[in-house]
Amino acid sequence: MEAGALTRRGLLVGIGAAGGAGAMYAAMGALGLAPDAQDKKFTPPRSGDFTLRGKGAAKVVILGAGVAGLTAAYELGKAGYDCTLLEAGPRVGGRNLTLRGGDRLTELNGPAQDVKFGEGVYFNAGPGRIAPWMVALDYCRELGIPIETFVNNNAQAYVHTNGRTMRARTARADMYGYVAELLAKATNLGALDRRLTRDDRDRLLEFLRRFGDLGPRLDYEGSERRGFTKFPALDGGLPIPAPGSLHQVLAAGTGRAITNDFGYDQATPMFQPVGGMDAIVTRLVEAVGKDRIKTGAKVTQITNLADGVEITWTGGHLGSGSGGQPASGSGGQSQSGSEGRSAPGGQPAPGSGGRIKADYCIATLPPHLLAKIPHNLGAEVTAALRTPVPVAAGKIGLEYGTRWWELEDKIYGGVTETDLDITHIWYPSHDYHAQRGLVVGYYNTDENAELYGALTPEDRRRRALTQGKKIHGDRYRNDVLSSVSIAWERQEHIQGGWVRWPAFDSSFTLLQRPSGRVYFAGDWLTHLIAWQAGAMESARGAVTQLHQRVVRSP
Ligand code: ALA
Repeated sequence: MEAGALTRRGLLVGIGAAGGAGAMYAAMGALGLAPDAQDKKFTPPRSGDFTLRGKGAAKVVILGAGVAGLTAAYELGKAGYDCTLLEAGPRVGGRNLTLRGGDRLTELNGPAQDVKFGEGVYFNAGPGRIAPWMVALDYCRELGIPIETFVNNNAQAYVHTNGRTMRARTARADMYGYVAELLAKATNLGALDRRLTRDDRDRLLEFLRRFGDLGPRLDYEGSERRGFTKFPALDGGLPIPAPGSLHQVLAAGTGRAITNDFGYDQATPMFQPVGGMDAIVTRLVEAVGKDRIKTGAKVTQITNLADGVEITWTGGHLGSGSGGQPASGSGGQSQSGSEGRSAPGGQPAPGSGGRIKADYCIATLPPHLLAKIPHNLGAEVTAALRTPVPVAAGKIGLEYGTRWWELEDKIYGGVTETDLDITHIWYPSHDYHAQRGLVVGYYNTDENAELYGALTPEDRRRRALTQGKKIHGDRYRNDVLSSVSIAWERQEHIQGGWVRWPAFDSSFTLLQRPSGRVYFAGDWLTHLIAWQAGAMESARGAVTQLHQRVVRSP
């Protein structure tokens, strides 16, 4: 800090003196010192914004009816924009997919799976949890979607690493305990004297005793935090025997497993819509209007014009936005069943493809698929779209006839972390004590997801059950009523769980801006990749840019 420059603290003291606590708190937020909402700057377009302009909102064609496309249409709709959504697949919602009994899941070069879950059982095959600061939760509030807690961190769940299974509480107690002991002893030996004042040393030791539940000589001797084989009641219970040695605890390799929820995006509490994540899709579709959505419409050409955009497609049924439900028997592109209206500006008969001219376009397809669609936006755009790399991701839903994890393990929601190829097991955070329930038997990415994705659904299930048995024993394989698995890289119009940018470089920022009259949106254009909040934030960004342009245009 230069001499004479204001320190942050000095600045805050000044603001506090002049403006009171409220001003100081707001300023702290601006400086990143106080909790602040993620982005409250968004102002939805309003029809009143056009009053001085003398003409109405523009016509916008939106490519893709996933969360980004639906959010864009929803926000533009608030100002009366005339939006048409073209969706290549038979259903809307994109990766926001909740599967229920009666649904059918198809995949590229693989057999279809008929979902046989019982009444009330559902499987969030895509997004499953929302952090409280995410805009996805704001949309739940705005759209009247009831939410409930998603238990992301459960001390009662398990950690399975290096062939051993223990409760998460035990793994944490041991690792925190030994780390605290080592640091406390090093501190006491004076190893940190160059970093610590005498008072700091005492404060640190005081904290470490608590953090590790250390004994009087700063030893980690185990602790009740490890849990009990019989919990206390009339008697003191039976604590789990003392921990292994420091070496054994380190060799157990629980480090990644017990820090999984440390991230700002994974910290407790998290939330889910009651009854399935697709409530978000259902309510967005209702707000946008089904008749604005054409499913089965595969875009074949994007042409940027001086005064608008022209999009051509093949297939397409108008008004088939189905609220996130896969069409029963989906996969076929029936040419019938449309409401018999042609798209705004579209000439051909419904179902046979068409052409639409609009003032603007918002393209929300996954970048690797968008890159393959012929366009006149230039080579730089194509190269940028080809830059992010699709990442495989998969999940299996295992429906059980009894909720043995609640009855026997006393696990109510939460995640078991493993170093097996299944990576995570999720227990349901809803409908506790119901008869049936659905466990997510794997949620994996990258090469583990590719491994499972390459198997038949039957083999995925077999492998998932074999792996889960290592943690839960034989009952994991008994009483499975049905299952369904998804390999997102094999979902026809998506082909990936999400993408990874090698770097958030000029390709990323290029696509955050329009190319002529074509805007881009999707989680892939944010730093919230693999979150619905990313798709929504990106849609808001595109809507804001587009609306400002329309309002300012002569
Ligand atoms: N959003 C993804 C998850 O919650 C990455 O696992």
